[in-house]
Amino acid sequence: MKIVTIIGARPQFIKAAAVSREIAKHSNIKEIIIHTGQHFDENMSEIFFEQMQILKPDYNLEINSLTHGAMTGRMIEKIEEVLLKEKPNWVIVYGDTNSTIAGALAAKKLHIKVAHVEAGLRSFNRKMPEEINRILTDKISDLLFCPTDQAVKNLQEEGIGKHSLARIVKSGDVMQDAAVFYSNLAQKPNFKLPEKFILSTIHRAENTDDPVRLRSIFSAFQKIADEIPIILPLHPRTKKIIKNFELKVEDLIIVEPVGYLEMIYLLKNCSLVMTDSGGLQKEAFFFHKPCVTLRDETEWVELVENGFNVVVGSNSGEIYAAYKKMINKNPNYNINLYGGGKASNKIIRELLKKL
Ligand code: UD1
Ligand code: UDP
Repeated sequence: MKIVTIIGARPQFIKAAAVSREIAKHSNIKEIIIHTGQHFDENMSEIFFEQMQILKPDYNLEINSLTHGAMTGRMIEKIEEVLLKEKPNWVIVYGDTNSTIAGALAAKKLHIKVAHVEAGLRSFNRKMPEEINRILTDKISDLLFCPTDQAVKNLQEEGIGKHSLARIVKSGDVMQDAAVFYSNLAQKPNFKLPEKFILSTIHRAENTDDPVRLRSIFSAFQKIADEIPIILPLHPRTKKIIKNFELKVEDLIIVEPVGYLEMIYLLKNCSLVMTDSGGLQKEAFFFHKPCVTLRDETEWVELVENGFNVVVGSNSGEIYAAYKKMINKNPNYNINLYGGGKASNKIIRELLKKL
């Protein structure tokens, strides 16, 4: 069987690392990796291939830093060329980025079967580019690998899986596979760490593209930083915008984006996670850290329902109150929400069944 894996953004390298590791156990599967080039800085791309020992991409399309339409359109065109040449049995796409929808569309128009890993997530906020990407990808995929019960329910409510056009499988979350596998390989970052700290990341368009929201988040951070240091590995998108908006950030420990193994070290050693990242909300849970989500909604509702996470939006006062509430929280993490690290195995077994 030949599988083409399509990845392009940081979280996709991490998800695909788990699945590729499983593919490598099967001598009857050949994997070809297309990197769209969406993320391209050394510490947003290459470092993950090195640290997680992902095979070097067979193709790098080098498409990035464009508007949504231009980026997605050019990706479709170039992915189509590769698929026509490689003729795979399956294309695997991950998550909800522009690389995801481009890969799924290019494949389906060539009648190539598509497996979507991390299917069924919904924020019900159609202003999010990710929501559009995931709704459309789910609609045309043949195999939908859902990380959670809620994701399965979301797809069923949209009628996906009816009429045998597609099959929904609850696989569990491949990010937990990665967290389990790489946990022991955690690496101390090469900057000075305070004894106690909050780990934060901010990059989501709805925060970074809105000066009022971003200012309000950073104003809460400045106040919190008087009480406990905040380490912020800064996404390039946010870095550009902080500069443009001339935001006050001097009390924060701002560092370049770190590799996955350093991130695990920071997760293991922090007191609290404050983020608008999708993946980091779950990783806080995997490493038993409370989380404050700086968004108006989350796709990972089970974390909120079980008290591991609070969704707080961008209001400065509410962010500060949520930090106070969560910093000393120590809920019982003994609950299996994401499959316990076996998702990739299940995914590959399902794909092989279809051979
Ligand atoms: C993308 C995804 C988002 C995901 C995030 C993960 C879409 C629509 N968005 O958002 O769902 O959560 O990746 O991190 O696909 N840049 C660099 N160097 C890089 C990468 C990006 O300078 O290595 C710059 C780009 O030039 C651009 C900006 O960051 O100006 C945003 O990059 P882009 O890939 O468009 O979106 P992300 O915000 O990274
Ligand atoms: N991550 C990382 N280094 C960083 C910031 C994040 O390795 O400096 C990892 C993080 O641990 C998680 C993934 O990147 O595994 C999340 O990606 P991101 O927040 O960029 O995207 P999202 O999950 O929101 O789509």
